Amino acid sequence: MESIIGLCKRRGFIFASSEIYGGYNGFFDYGPLGVELRNNIKNIWWRDMVQRRDDIVGLDSSIIMHPNIWEASGHVDGFSDPMVDCKESKLRYRADQLFVYPVILDNEQAGHIAVVEGTDLSTRIKQAKKLRDHLGNKQAKLDEARLDSDPVEITELEDAHRATTLGPDAKEIGTLTEPREFKLMFETKVGPLADQSAVAYLRPETAQGIFANYKNIVDTGRVKIPFGIAQIGKAFRNEITPRNFIFRSREFEQMEIEYFISPDADWKTLHREWLDTCINWLESIGIPKDQVSEDVHVADKLAFYSQATTDLMFEFPHGKQELWGIACRSDYDLGQHQKHSGKSMEIFDESQKKKYIPHVIEPSLGVDRTLLAVLTTAYDEDEIPNDKGVVEKRTVLRFSPKIAPYKAAIFPLVKNKPELVEIAEKLYKKLQKRWNVFYDASGAIGRRYRRQDEIGTPFGITVDFDTLEKDGTVTLRDRDTTEQKRMSPEALFEFLEEQING
Ligand code: GAP
Repeated sequence: MESIIGLCKRRGFIFASSEIYGGYNGFFDYGPLGVELRNNIKNIWWRDMVQRRDDIVGLDSSIIMHPNIWEASGHVDGFSDPMVDCKESKLRYRADQLFVYPVILDNEQAGHIAVVEGTDLSTRIKQAKKLRDHLGNKQAKLDEARLDSDPVEITELEDAHRATTLGPDAKEIGTLTEPREFKLMFETKVGPLADQSAVAYLRPETAQGIFANYKNIVDTGRVKIPFGIAQIGKAFRNEITPRNFIFRSREFEQMEIEYFISPDADWKTLHREWLDTCINWLESIGIPKDQVSEDVHVADKLAFYSQATTDLMFEFPHGKQELWGIACRSDYDLGQHQKHSGKSMEIFDESQKKKYIPHVIEPSLGVDRTLLAVLTTAYDEDEIPNDKGVVEKRTVLRFSPKIAPYKAAIFPLVKNKPELVEIAEKLYKKLQKRWNVFYDASGAIGRRYRRQDEIGTPFGITVDFDTLEKDGTVTLRDRDTTEQKRMSPEALFEFLEEQING
């Protein structure tokens, strides 16, 4: 993660928000390369999920909506996370990410340690030894194997055991509070009044904007069941522990679809089809199938209205975590909005000749998490020979050409030969009309290649003396293999078109 964060800052992908004031936890700014990468991810998602499908239409709803929407959806009362505070360190942890291991000394249970998810065995052993020392029992034999067995979630810990638990960042024992609920929605005030009637919320998901507009789209569009409504947009959550770079932030962006189906439809099959669609889409932007796994939520942990939820998990640098949630949410949301608004949410299904409130399958993906997954997959370090044949280490982002910020970089071999520069500039201007490309005339050619490798530009195009004196062909260098081949400008266009848009 450190290498990725370093590269992102060094090359202008992602900055900490408000950095000149020391940063602002949970917020990030996307620089010139980051915004290109981000836009490419969103545009491809929109193209594949909306424009290239006949059954999904788009929407862009407002971020602040009538507060009753969040009453109806259950967010006002229920959108909170159980958190555990440490009274000593003043740190706050999400309860579902805090795990407890028993500490066995001389074959007897002496207490517990609480660690955050993903803590490795050696850190757990160190923590247990800290507890042992604190108990004044330095000579006691620690059962290390027990620290390698399954932990319990802190929510399942008995009160009596909490008093004997050493927290992740505490020196004293028994400093952790019991889990308490913390509200995640950001509040704001709308209009001139500052009283309770003016309270509104920054949306914590884009999904409710879709449900709130479902009736508009049914009444004005020509949609028929099954159909989906897609939306890309900002969402805000007052995450108590924003961390792991852009993985969990307080302002982020979602790409969500509500796919409306008949209550009689075979939702299990449709849910499976959506999972496959999502996995294939990730593969199409360069996240291989073998890096994605499925986490099926067990029935007793599902929300009461949910029929099934499966998360697509990705191996992020900080561990395997949720990337994309695909939930079957029954008719809960539309039913709630019908109840709270008094407006019918029923649709007349021509094929079944009956009216009903449709059920929904919801694939919900974060733009920022996708970007982090893409960076994680693409980041690589290898060794290649430089201009003089000496093998050097290089950092390379192996982005798919589809999402790479720059699709190609155009170089005249040398900058002091006006005829070469003229052809290179002409080619650059021509390619720029179609794609985001880069022009660089200064420095040794190997160095120029390396600069582009580091920001993930898949192709280097060099105009050299053969271009000028022989056949007009240019050299195309492949970032990943570093292989070079000559191509005519026409063949080059065709090649790039296939690689980027095919
Ligand atoms: N409408 C359903 C919904 O919002 P969610 O699992 O809470 O479900 C969906 O969020 C997706 O949004 C997640 O899978 C993740 O990709 C992204 N996401 C959620 N919270 C996030 C956060 N704090 N920072 C970045 N991305 C987040």
